[in-house]
Amino acid sequence: APRHFLSIADLTPAELTTLVRNAHHHKTVIKSTDEVPQSLRGALAGKTVAMTFNKRSTRTRISTEGAVVTMGGHPMFLGKDDIQLGVNESLYDTAVVMSSMTSAIVARVGPHSDVADLAKYSSVPVINALSDLYHPLQIIADFLTIAEVNFTSSGPSLGLEGMKIAWIGDANNVLFDLAIGAMKLGVDVAVATPKGYSIPEDMRAVIEQAANTSPKPGKLFETNVPEEAVKNADILVTDTWVSMGQEEETAKRLAAFKGFQITNDLAKRGGAKDSWAFMHCLPRHPEEVDDDVFHGPRSVVFREAENRKWAAICRSRT
Ligand code: CP
Repeated sequence: APRHFLSIADLTPAELTTLVRNAHHHKTVIKSTDEVPQSLRGALAGKTVAMTFNKRSTRTRISTEGAVVTMGGHPMFLGKDDIQLGVNESLYDTAVVMSSMTSAIVARVGPHSDVADLAKYSSVPVINALSDLYHPLQIIADFLTIAEVNFTSSGPSLGLEGMKIAWIGDANNVLFDLAIGAMKLGVDVAVATPKGYSIPEDMRAVIEQAANTSPKPGKLFETNVPEEAVKNADILVTDTWVSMGQEEETAKRLAAFKGFQITNDLAKRGGAKDSWAFMHCLPRHPEEVDDDVFHGPRSVVFREAENRKWAAICRSRT
């Protein structure tokens, strides 16, 4: 059976560490030599990767499509208006047909059940390029960014144990996979959401289960007070308050999240570490983080965005 990648939960702590290390290695080699090693160039030679996206994307599309080319393959982009899926054809029929003619499928979907079903019926590996529950490629890029910016380690781990991430804002798909990865890597996560927008019970159980996979797990804290989450944090991170598909809730959400904008003042009031850095997976809206932080010296958002490319090239080094 093919091995799929639908969530960071699919990886052991050692596998997640290896993927981040591989991404860093390929980034260093390719940027310093301006050449792609032969081992990487041949990895997908003669292979086609279907990229079925039913939602818009800048970073995920550019990074995954570019990664397939870097590895010598052919990325076949299939937007929602390009194929029969959902209009004239079922997900089952699409999965069987698509996987019979390609070597892998990268899928951006709405409900997570869509990518899970695609994986169930596909004869080739399926990679989740974002669903309403998870965004695993983003999280490899995020841990690569955190490791690059804050910590270096030549030992078996990424050297992130004991650090603290403060997530301020909506409990969404990016947070879920970030928290799962953090539990595996020994990183604490403090989540501040408005009342009524906290992590759903079943997802909290998935995050706690991820902690059980690690000998030195991170810890999850939850609060409705942003300052409490920020205390002693190394990283402050947020995401849009209105994810794709939630546009009808915009006014209600903007009202509910008032007071959760990341600012330098919030970091100071809450007592973030002196060296705190700011991350955001993008696209960004000014309501969740002000311009001073987003464009300021602590912001690593564009490094994080570039790291999406290297996260998509995290295959084995040999
Ligand atoms: N962060 C992210 O997934 O960006 P896109 O939606 O542009 O792919």
